[in-house]
Amino acid sequence: MVEEEGWVKLRIILVGFGVVGQNLVKLLLSRADDIYLRYGMKPRLVATVDSKGVAVSQSGLDLQRLLEVKRFYGTVAAYHKDVQGCESADIDGENYGRCMVKEVIREIDAEVLVEATPTNLNDGEPGLSNITTAIKHGRNVVTVNKGPLALAMPSLLELAEYNGVMLRFSGTVGGGTPILEFAKHCLRGDRILSFKGILNGTTNYILSMMEDGLTFDEALNDARSKGYAEADPSLDIDGFDAAAKLVIMANWIMGMKVTMRDVRFKGIRDVRLEDILEAKKHGKVIKLIASCDESRRLKVEPMGIDKNEPLCVNGTLNAVTFTSEHSGELTVIGKGAGGMETASAILRDLIEVREAMSMGIGLNRS
Ligand code: HSE
Repeated sequence: MVEEEGWVKLRIILVGFGVVGQNLVKLLLSRADDIYLRYGMKPRLVATVDSKGVAVSQSGLDLQRLLEVKRFYGTVAAYHKDVQGCESADIDGENYGRCMVKEVIREIDAEVLVEATPTNLNDGEPGLSNITTAIKHGRNVVTVNKGPLALAMPSLLELAEYNGVMLRFSGTVGGGTPILEFAKHCLRGDRILSFKGILNGTTNYILSMMEDGLTFDEALNDARSKGYAEADPSLDIDGFDAAAKLVIMANWIMGMKVTMRDVRFKGIRDVRLEDILEAKKHGKVIKLIASCDESRRLKVEPMGIDKNEPLCVNGTLNAVTFTSEHSGELTVIGKGAGGMETASAILRDLIEVREAMSMGIGLNRS
């Protein structure tokens, strides 16, 4: 077992230093004492990669400095510059500052890759290559990137198992709301027959605002300005994001082996104000519902649901109702997005990885 001062080491490579990545670093800073006391864990960030460069320190990056250089210079590469803006003589920086991300993942000693690059549902890149490189080199992976999972989850899970490492992805569904864990762990022993839910906060916000009288475009602009929407909002509006999350749930919770191709999906682009008002007259509300039915058909489509159903949440909230064999219907509701919320899901996964490592799991070193 890899130990340090009696504690299992948890050295992290963080790839992707946008809102979620930066919030993770803030969380590691603000919760350091608590994480150590409660979980016996001293996570050490040994490399951070953003779209413009790399910061590396095998002895652990100074987290405060990392956040500051990102804020002032726009890239973590500036970590290896001194205050006058000159290249420092930091050997780690000199060695790795010009390296490609794959080399960092391969060459820096670490137990975990945290993959937080933006979701790409066309080919999953660069997340897909980052994750496969890490797994093949014996690193555990925690990802919040939906692309690689939506396109290749069955093979990624197999690859992780074959290489004896863990692949975790709590933050890909529900932001900080533990939807995946609830179904996987809390309902252990029961059998989930089907589930349905609101998995995309942006479309739920748009539909809720339209009900309050805004037009589709006004509501979308509002959602974008609040930072809920994907960089390309058609991923939200046309149902891609909800379908990707449905794929992740189907694989992880139902044990299915599916990708985006197995989901029939339709977004909210054609929902008109008249449809919403007509539904309202009948005590219903139009929501973008992702579902896995008892025949394991996967669908995302706008539909009217009863306004008194627990699933009927407003704004950017997410909600999922699971129908289980013994406990009946159970609904989980929570914020579906947000930098700090999603970062908290990464921390949850890191704790799980660390606990598994202390039992000798996920310690495969190639
Ligand atoms: N665009 C996504 C949403 C972000 O609106 O739910 C969280 O995955």
